[in-house]
Amino acid sequence: MKISIFNGSPRGPLGNSGQAIEKIKENMKNPHDVYCLRETEKHHEFIQAAMDSDLYVLIFPLYTDAMPAIVMAFIEALHVYQSKLANKKIYFIVHSGFPEAKQSYYVRDYLIELSKKLKLQVIDTIVMGGDQSKLPYFTHIGEEIDQLKVIDDKTKDILLNPISFDSFPLEEVNGFITHTNEFMNNVIKSNDCLEDSYRKPYLSDVL
Ligand SMILES: Cc1cc2nc3c(=O)[nH]c(=O)nc-3n(C[C@H](O)[C@H](O)[C@H](O)COP(=O)(O)O)c2cc1C
Repeated sequence: MKISIFNGSPRGPLGNSGQAIEKIKENMKNPHDVYCLRETEKHHEFIQAAMDSDLYVLIFPLYTDAMPAIVMAFIEALHVYQSKLANKKIYFIVHSGFPEAKQSYYVRDYLIELSKKLKLQVIDTIVMGGDQSKLPYFTHIGEEIDQLKVIDDKTKDILLNPISFDSFPLEEVNGFITHTNEFMNNVIKSNDCLEDSYRKPYLSDVL
């Protein structure tokens, strides 16, 4: 069984999707290829090269509650090959930075509808929030994919946790924002453009 893995991160192999893919591949016995969808000009080439694969894995990060634009472009390219894709097997993996898995439920529903339209046979659709803390589980996910298995309930429960917060975690969010601001300010200072960061070019345009 040949496997084609599509990396839907605009950050390519160096992003979290890329790291997850490295773990997925760790114990994979079946031959596999990885295609980086940020090379948008090669989408048709990738689909044609992957035509002899029995199994596809499409993994991408949640960007603003949806899929990155490069993934949308790839899906549009897939439609061209609709007749040849019928009954190919596929796993979808959607991961996101913020903790709540529920954010990815809309895109998960979309992927299920999409696969019906393309007549793809979905083996499993895996979603998770707080992706960086979940990276170690990707080796196991890779082993399950290699055997065409549905991910077991115990692992899924861990990946989905927390599905959603009962109440708004103001303290955690506050801490996170302070931390992010500190980081960004240091980047701005190291680029010697702190003053520029207060400019309001859009305002002078209007006035
Ligand atoms: C433009 C942008 C939008 C994002 N939107 C969300 C979001 O809506 N929800 C979320 O939980 N994380 C969001 N994130 C965080 C990413 O999902 C997270 O950092 C992910 O690990 C990135 O994967 P990558 O490194 O493979 O691109 C966003 C990140 C970026 C850069």
